[in-house]
Amino acid sequence: MVNYTYLGHACFMLDDGNSKILVDPYLTGNPKALIAADKVKCDYILISHAHGDHLGDAPEIAKKNDAQIVAIPEILAICEDRVRGLKGIPMNLGGTVKLPFGFVRMTLAFHSSGVAGGVACGFVINIGGKNFYYAGDTALFSDMKSIGQRDKLTAAILPIGDNYTMGIDDAAIAAQMLNVPYVFPIHYDTWEIISQDVNEFKSRAEEIARTEVEILQPGESWEFE
Ligand code: NI
Ligand code: MN
Repeated sequence: MVNYTYLGHACFMLDDGNSKILVDPYLTGNPKALIAADKVKCDYILISHAHGDHLGDAPEIAKKNDAQIVAIPEILAICEDRVRGLKGIPMNLGGTVKLPFGFVRMTLAFHSSGVAGGVACGFVINIGGKNFYYAGDTALFSDMKSIGQRDKLTAAILPIGDNYTMGIDDAAIAAQMLNVPYVFPIHYDTWEIISQDVNEFKSRAEEIARTEVEILQPGESWEFE
C-alpha cells in the first residue's frame, strides 16, 4: 500500500507505512497549504529545484525530523547554509539512489534551477513496488516518453499551471507520452498567474491519453493497493 497525499502547490507526500517521502515542501507562505511546516513528519525530503515554491521549508523540516534530503549538490549547499548539520544524499540527472523504500531516479526537467550552476530535475520514486513520476517544474519534452518506457509508471504528478511550466494542453500530451494510468495535477491556482481550469485539463488528458486524472484538494490522499 502506498498513499499519495497532496499538500498544496507542488508539495506532496508518499508513504508506504514505513517511509514518508516529502517532496518540494513549500508550506510557509503557501496560500494553499493546510499543514504548517513544523507539523510535518517525514523521513526523506526530495527537492526538484531551488525556487522558493519548491525548496520552501526543506532545511527546517529536515532538521526537525532528522530527515535526509535528496537533491543536487548545489541545493544541498543552500540547505546547509540555512541550517547546519543536515543529512544530504547528493545526486544528479540520470542517477539512481537505492533507499530502504525502493529507489529515487533523478530525471530531466526543462526549467531554470534557482541556483547558480544547478539544474532543475524531476524524480521517479519507487516505493512499495510502485513508480511515481514527479515532473517538477518543466516544459513538455519528448523524452518524457522514455521515462514511461524506462519504468512502468503507477502515477504521474504533473504541473498544469502554465506561465512557469507546462499548461493544460502540454500536460495532457505529457500524460499521453508517459503512458501512465493515473495523473495528479499540481502547480496551479496557487496564484492568479497560474490559475487553470483543472476540469478542462482532466477532460483533455482523458480524451487523448489512457489515463485517469484525479483532482485532489490540499490535504486529500489517494491510496494505491
Ligand atoms: Ni520553478
Ligand atoms: Mn514552481
